[in-house]
Amino acid sequence: MDTRVALVTGAARGIGREIAVRLAEDGFDLAVADLREEAVAETAELVAAAGRRTLVSATDVSDEDAVVAMIERVSSELGGLDAVVNNAGILHLTPILDISAAEWDQTMAVNLRGTFLVSREAFRRMKERGAGKIVSIASLAAKVGGITAGAHYAASKAGVICFTKSLAAQAAAFSINVNAVAPGPVATEMTADWGDEVNEAFRARIPFGRYAEPRDVANAVAFLLSEQAGYITGEVIDVNGGSYMD
Ligand SMILES: NC(=O)c1ccc[n+]([C@@H]2O[C@H](COP(=O)([O-])OP(=O)(O)OC[C@H]3O[C@@H](n4cnc5c(N)ncnc54)[C@H](O)[C@@H]3O)[C@@H](O)[C@H]2O)c1
Repeated sequence: MDTRVALVTGAARGIGREIAVRLAEDGFDLAVADLREEAVAETAELVAAAGRRTLVSATDVSDEDAVVAMIERVSSELGGLDAVVNNAGILHLTPILDISAAEWDQTMAVNLRGTFLVSREAFRRMKERGAGKIVSIASLAAKVGGITAGAHYAASKAGVICFTKSLAAQAAAFSINVNAVAPGPVATEMTADWGDEVNEAFRARIPFGRYAEPRDVANAVAFLLSEQAGYITGEVIDVNGGSYMD
């Protein structure tokens, strides 16, 4: 592998933490970013325990200045930026008639604008080197609409997929791969918030009969960041236990 320094956003818990640990096992040094400063520092400790260098960044991915500063810091302190995982995300279950404009904007700001800002700044760096890989975490909701998830969440994740394809087309000339992973429900605090009734109904519709574990998602991300995926770009890998096949 020629990719060595990775940045994972939303790495304080759940899927993001697992991606960071998985990439550390693959030999990456890790920059881990999140709003939750204490929890993301714990992720960094797990990465360090795997023998890798770490950098902790308390960054809000929707804040342009903060993102520009974070990418600059990661590049200078860890000596480059080879891989980026846009994982930070928020989910509201609000029915459409109850979605306020502020909640709509907040969802777009974190899930879509955050993915755009981090990717844009990473692309700027990777373009100079002529190498790099970017993976964004979309969602099954991006393909089928928000069933439990809110319409704003589904729309933001559909935006992530379309942005992924647009960036993939522009970045390919610089040997940069840009892909997405679209998980169905994953056993994290995000879905624990849905309650038992909703979760049981969902599980019943999954051919594999269980939710994804964070490691299932992390494995797909690790593949897309590996040399084996060197000719794959603009792709969306479903990790949904067969609940939707396209
Ligand atoms: N859990 C699922 O079922 C599921 C399914 C499909 C997609 N996803 C997506 O996977 C990603 C991770 O989900 P999860 O289940 O681990 O969620 P989670 O809520 O457990 O973790 C999300 C992390 O993102 C961080 N975050 C939120 N806003 C941020 C911001 N503005 N800047 C930086 N960090 C911020 C949170 O602090 C948190 O640590 C999200 O993008 C989510 O939409 C999750």
